[in-house]
Amino acid sequence: MLTPLTDQQREIVALARTFASEEIGPRAALLDREARFDRGIAEQLGALGFLGMMIPEEYDGLGLDTLTYLLALEEIAVADASTAVLMSVHNSMPTQMLLTFGSAEQKERWLRPMARGELLGAFALSEPDAGSDASSLVCRAERDGDDWLLTGTKSWVSTGSEAGVILVIARSSPMVPEHRSRGISAFVVTPDLPGFAVGRKEDKMGLRSSPTVQLVFDQMRVPAANLLGEEGRGFEYAMRSLDNGRLGIAAQAIGIARAALEHSLDYAAQRAQFGTAIREFEAIQFKLADMGARIESARALLHLTAMAKDRGERTTLHGSMSKLLASETAMWAATQAVQLFGGYGYVKDYPVERLFRDAKVTEIYEGTSEIQRIVIARELYAERERERR
Ligand code: CAA
Repeated sequence: MLTPLTDQQREIVALARTFASEEIGPRAALLDREARFDRGIAEQLGALGFLGMMIPEEYDGLGLDTLTYLLALEEIAVADASTAVLMSVHNSMPTQMLLTFGSAEQKERWLRPMARGELLGAFALSEPDAGSDASSLVCRAERDGDDWLLTGTKSWVSTGSEAGVILVIARSSPMVPEHRSRGISAFVVTPDLPGFAVGRKEDKMGLRSSPTVQLVFDQMRVPAANLLGEEGRGFEYAMRSLDNGRLGIAAQAIGIARAALEHSLDYAAQRAQFGTAIREFEAIQFKLADMGARIESARALLHLTAMAKDRGERTTLHGSMSKLLASETAMWAATQAVQLFGGYGYVKDYPVERLFRDAKVTEIYEGTSEIQRIVIARELYAERERERR
């Protein structure tokens, strides 16, 4: 990797790599086959501090920067993309939302146990009929005395069945067609609230050991103190949260791509055809070379973006670019790996089959590749406008 690392970053990468290869990797194929979430792995992640990486030490986190977090996340994703999405969502979205917009009381109550990994976090924005078009959401929040009553269904919630804290984005004022993103608020929801239910669990192509569920709110009574930040600013908070989340998904995708490359390097060195190891063939060398070059360039952009974020800059443009490049690299590299393995790549005896299935969702969730391109194009015009002023 080109990125220069500090001694501390090297240590954290080594810790994450050892934990991932010794504790997660050996369990990943079986958990995938059984579509089973392993709470023990989440507890170990918490014990190592990997669920509070960017939370300040005063709230029991590690107080590290974004780059260090993404370095660790890539290592976890090399071993298992399902564990990586848990780590990504928890660190990038609900905890950062509480840290940035939460009250002192909310931080004390939820951020501290989240930093220690005692409560897992989830983010609930999408709905059955509001996916890419997030501001068309219809989940309703109505004021009732000292409470809010939430009614509606949220979809595609990663870790939603396991979470102790869920950041829910709901409409707190009637929709005005020309300002659909206004009148939306964010709420801190816990599964013990009356009216909360976990709905269907999705039977997915990949990331099978990360549970993805619907959440159903039936007049769920949410105390007014659980409103996050200011009423009516929930859509902006969600978009800012996705700016962070997309960096995590990019690191996850780079981890998947790197796993595809590493397995390919090993296999091409030991697999012999036509009397020689297949690494001697140019057709194979070209695949390996392109995989390496694409991974390094996606990673370099992501790391520069992380450093810009840590300098306090807005990273919407480069975050979307990073997510787009990394996720398309992951899908492409996993496809090349399956091809390089031939028939062995198409069966479950080797890990590249799982990588192929896991890679696909990185082009879909936290904004599809099409949405990233829309964001990038809009931001390019906005940047030009700013330069002209
Ligand atoms: N930061 C801050 N504010 C932002 C922003 C950002 N990055 N992006 C938009 N906003 C603000 C705008 O400034 C605007 O504010 P005003 O009303 O004050 O002018 C407001 O939000 C509305 O913005 P747009 O007009 O751009 O809204 P839009 O309806 O055109 O939608 C979109 C924009 C980019 C398409 C957005 O809907 C989007 O990102 N869609 C994809 C949703 C997504 O990624 N979903 C994934 C859910 S999470 C998940 O995948 C599951 C999981 O658990 C992993």
